[in-house]
Amino acid sequence: MQSSEIRSRFLKFFEKRGHAIIPSSPLVPENDPSVLFNTAGMQPLVPYLLGKPHPKGARLANSQKCVRTVDIDEIGDNTHATFFEMLGNWSLGDYFKEDAIQWSFEFLTSKEEGLGLDPNRLYVTVFEGDENAPRDLEAAEIWKRYIPEHRIYFRGAKSNWWSPGENGPCGPDTEMFYDVTKDGLGDMTLEEYLAADDRQEVVEIWNDVFMEYEKKDGKVVGKLATKNVDTGSGLERVVMMVQGKNNIFDTDLFAGILGAIKERASTYDERAARIVADHIRTATFLIGDGVLPSNTDQGYVLRRLIRRAVRYISGLGITDLTPAPFVAAVVATYRDAYPNLVTDEARIVSVIAEEGDKFRKTLERGMKEFQKITESIISAEQAFDLYQTYGFPIEITKEVAGEQGKRVDEDGFRQKLADHQALSRAGAEQKFKGGLADASGETVMLHTSTHLMLAALRKFLGEHVHQAGSNITSERTRFDFTHPEKVSREILDQVEAYVNEAISKQCPMVIEQMKKDDAQAQGVEGSFWEKYPDVVDVYMVKCDDGTVYSRELCGGPHVKNTADIKGRFKIVKEEASSAGVRRIKAVIEQ
Ligand code: ALA
Repeated sequence: MQSSEIRSRFLKFFEKRGHAIIPSSPLVPENDPSVLFNTAGMQPLVPYLLGKPHPKGARLANSQKCVRTVDIDEIGDNTHATFFEMLGNWSLGDYFKEDAIQWSFEFLTSKEEGLGLDPNRLYVTVFEGDENAPRDLEAAEIWKRYIPEHRIYFRGAKSNWWSPGENGPCGPDTEMFYDVTKDGLGDMTLEEYLAADDRQEVVEIWNDVFMEYEKKDGKVVGKLATKNVDTGSGLERVVMMVQGKNNIFDTDLFAGILGAIKERASTYDERAARIVADHIRTATFLIGDGVLPSNTDQGYVLRRLIRRAVRYISGLGITDLTPAPFVAAVVATYRDAYPNLVTDEARIVSVIAEEGDKFRKTLERGMKEFQKITESIISAEQAFDLYQTYGFPIEITKEVAGEQGKRVDEDGFRQKLADHQALSRAGAEQKFKGGLADASGETVMLHTSTHLMLAALRKFLGEHVHQAGSNITSERTRFDFTHPEKVSREILDQVEAYVNEAISKQCPMVIEQMKKDDAQAQGVEGSFWEKYPDVVDVYMVKCDDGTVYSRELCGGPHVKNTADIKGRFKIVKEEASSAGVRRIKAVIEQ
């Protein structure tokens, strides 16, 4: 069974059981400064798990794009990837343990509607209980209907309590594991099962979280108003199990890109090829979702992935430096599920190529510099110089050092970097959060001004202009938009005048709920339409005389009235950001 069929079987299975299928949100969460990327399917749904009614109802399912980079050093093993899709189904105060467990089992094992996996290879864990919640005997009882009792293990909060972080909805969970060995492991004691888990002979396939608790500042503070279910199943791993492989790279999800790598490599190495495949795939999705290489946050992760891929590409003896065939292979694999990649392919290739070229130029010089270091410990100063002058992310310095049997003063480096950032005022407040880093009065003023600016850019430059990235702090807005060439000062003056006119006319910000299709048909501006539900919030700067200065899809926050924008909007810089993308910095002058 191909991955695309597995994805669509999952969605069909839950649609048939009353779930609305919702689109994947983009990888960068909007207006959520607590995380860089969506790392689980539930992340965009947090407000709904906390009680806000979802416009699509109480049963939802989707396949959510996720990026997790904590495991970056594990990439190359059998089961880790920096990008993955999470299949998930949710109950918002509707069904609970009984249906959730039954459907998990049925989907995994049913030949007709599900994956047809062997129930004799399934093992499950349930929560053993602690001061926050009792032992989950209920889940264990339900499981006993489907699998023998001795394959149900009770485990502590460390493995069987799930929360997205220090704050938010959480609860005990039950996890399903699948035996991927050739001959099958059969019955196992808890100790044997744990050892098999360590050897990746049993692999987690699904997690059902019974979210009825809430965490604040790391502590469970009580129950939520509703009992919810949040499930997550990593598509790559599911595909691996269904296709009878013991690693995700042997599945059809990676066949295209690994084939392209193999064809071009003169010194093939499996781990290196897997790293390149993983990183280029993740970079493709990140750029497709509007991330561009930079030295902070999401942009830094992307930069690090591309640069690491470049190192391994040269290690594989690939001499043709264009990333085009690798990106093309990723796009071909995902063209039906994520058509935006097809539209964006050329831009993705050029962003990776540009960043790769930049890095290659400095890599050679940097490696020469590296060779000069004779000490066995690379000092903070040396690591910082490699970073600052030669564009070596600390992780690459560590890797190269490791290959040469050297160590790096990483703590010292981080301290130096922090000092440097404080000096250049590129600290926390300027962080790229894909939306608003904070909701201070100044930031909110700039957010509304940014909407007005985008409307003006589209009016004076054309409808091809869309947002390609936005970073707003209390001091300035930094806005990337699609446009092929430099914008003249005359146009920038017109844009400024447009924004200032809307400010001086003291127009209210009106939020109108519209059907998504209608909003799109009426030309409401927005990126990532696919992430929004059928009914959307359209933020309009609409004056009392009827003039509409801006109409944009958004989640807020904004000023109530443009009169709250205290000062004059001014564009202080316009420059190239990457191929086909321009960047404006603008401020509010008192
Ligand atoms: N949110 C749960 C997880 O990521 C399902 O494992």
